[in-house]
Amino acid sequence: MIAIGSDHAAYHLKLLVEEHLKERGLAFEDLGCYGPERVDYPVYGQKVAEAVAAGQYEKGIVLCGTGIGISLAANKVPGIRCAVCSDTYSAKYTRLHNDANMLAMGERVVGPGLAMEIVDAFLDTPFEGGRHAQRVALITEIEKKYSK
Ligand code: RB5
Repeated sequence: MIAIGSDHAAYHLKLLVEEHLKERGLAFEDLGCYGPERVDYPVYGQKVAEAVAAGQYEKGIVLCGTGIGISLAANKVPGIRCAVCSDTYSAKYTRLHNDANMLAMGERVVGPGLAMEIVDAFLDTPFEGGRHAQRVALITEIEKKYSK
């Protein structure tokens, strides 16, 4: 199950991503926002990230104008590794090497066709483990040091 969220700037891209997930037969839940009215991206980054970190969803997809603001908010939640991607190579390698559990994209940055290919690369690529697992563990160590 995938959690998806966006602010107003990426509301339309979110609907397209949802349509794409439906076509692929993948289950998802939309945690907002629910219309094009102006909202604050950290609210939705946090909402999706907390649900993913709690284990309610396997992965999260968050969208805003650039993908950056909502990813910054999501990455403040312990256990979240949210990667902003504007190309399929990054989407593939953030799964292989970083075990990213959330993807962020910007509606003002990527076109809809590319966005769907990024989503597919992210969802279809497993974590490679091995030496990369140690590095991901080091990221978690940093997180632990600062979350008291
Ligand atoms: C909203 O105008 C915009 O600032 C937001 O969607 C995002 O791009 C922030 O990083």
